[in-house]
Amino acid sequence: MEKKNFLKDETFLQQHKVLAIFLFLSFVLMDPFHLGPLGEHEFRPVKHNVAPYKQVMKNWPKDNMSRLGLHGKLEFENEVFGPESLEFDNMGRGPYTGLADGRVVRWMGEQLGWETFAVVTSNWTEKTCMRGNDSTTPKQWKHEKTCGRPLGLRFDKESGDLYIADAYYGLLMVGPNGGLATPLATHVEGKPILFANDLDIHKNGSIFFTDTSTRYNRVAHFFILLEGEGTGRLLRYDPPTKTTHVVLDGLVFPNGVQISKDQSFLLFTETTNCRLMKLWIDGPKDGTVECVADLPGFPDNVRMNEKGQFWVAIDCCRTGPQEVLSNNPWLRSIYFRLPVRMSLLAKAMGMKMYTMIALLDDNGKILEVLEDREGKVMKLVSEVKEEKGKLWIGTVAHNHISTLPYP
Ligand SMILES: *[C@@H]1O[C@H](CO)[C@@H](O)[C@H](O)[C@H]1NC(C)=O
Ligand SMILES: *[C@@H]1O[C@H](CO)[C@@H](O)[C@H](O)[C@H]1NC(C)=O
Ligand SMILES: *[C@@H]1O[C@H](CO)[C@@H](O)[C@H](O)[C@H]1NC(C)=O
Repeated sequence: MEKKNFLKDETFLQQHKVLAIFLFLSFVLMDPFHLGPLGEHEFRPVKHNVAPYKQVMKNWPKDNMSRLGLHGKLEFENEVFGPESLEFDNMGRGPYTGLADGRVVRWMGEQLGWETFAVVTSNWTEKTCMRGNDSTTPKQWKHEKTCGRPLGLRFDKESGDLYIADAYYGLLMVGPNGGLATPLATHVEGKPILFANDLDIHKNGSIFFTDTSTRYNRVAHFFILLEGEGTGRLLRYDPPTKTTHVVLDGLVFPNGVQISKDQSFLLFTETTNCRLMKLWIDGPKDGTVECVADLPGFPDNVRMNEKGQFWVAIDCCRTGPQEVLSNNPWLRSIYFRLPVRMSLLAKAMGMKMYTMIALLDDNGKILEVLEDREGKVMKLVSEVKEEKGKLWIGTVAHNHISTLPYP
């Protein structure tokens, strides 16, 4: 009799436990008070295409000496704010870089320092846009749309014109003397381009550029990563007809673009999918897309050196727990609604901000891996440009540039 009662109680207790968990999960899922990092956002996580974590890490060489951190040099601290892309003109001047305050600036040497070279919109004013050190903080977010956010930069080495992919103003061009840039592509197929990110110029004058998402702009880019959504595109602007075309769609956070030396293919990164992709644009495989390399972290820009090899900037790194979330969209729905700060959620997944840069050949063979494991000179890397015996390393999130003598 006693035993029976006890059993009954146990079942009763368990039922309550299940009910409690169920209620807790429902509460978390509905997040009625918008306590989680997603706030009031309608979060739609989906499954995306990322290679198995263990397999990628096993095959990836490590830089145990953390050579980028060891030999890298922090430069221009608090003089440049979120310098994403670095470029040099046909007279060897530079670097030029796009900043979080909406300007494109260039380095004119020790005497003159940094000078404003171009802006992407006539809305730009010093009063609204110049926030110095605060440019890379959320204080700038509500001004970004007004001031512009130049990301990818490329010179046409013959004409001296600078092409700019701006996160809000699309594809633009400015002459060798700078000033206010002229918009080239702001719409495609009748709709505004929401998040232009990087570009490269084909020998025939056409410009290939990425549009990272058709749902989220740059300020909301974290949602693209968390959802794994794939609405990004590769676009092409043809100067003779002044028309813009969709080359590829359904991409998962397309980011950097680089055309090969012989113009037969281009490489682009898919940040959320942690991979480097190749699109053939000439020859027998014209139009075909291939995966060139699965990467241990989240790639940003790709830049070619004079030998025709490719530097890829990678934010580190993928982790085991992050892969579980990546493969289970429903788990992400719950996890990111927990009433805890995003930085803590990221930490709980073993995420730690540090930098890895890698040099690859056109078939994805790894030629060099340099790491900064402590984030000494670079915590979040956007681009690596090999020029004048150095690697110039940009970052979209911090206020400096790093350099490293190379080779
Ligand atoms: C680097 O460290 C890892 C793990 O500690 C080890 O397996 C690997 O052999 C090391 N590589 C080199 C080149 O020392
Ligand atoms: C940026 O911060 C550094 C030190 O943190 C300071 O020396 C510098 O004056 C600041 N610059 C601006 C423009 O606020
Ligand atoms: C340039 O070449 C690319 C790649 O083959 C092609 O898609 C594009 O239409 C060409 N542009 C012009 C203006 O001929």
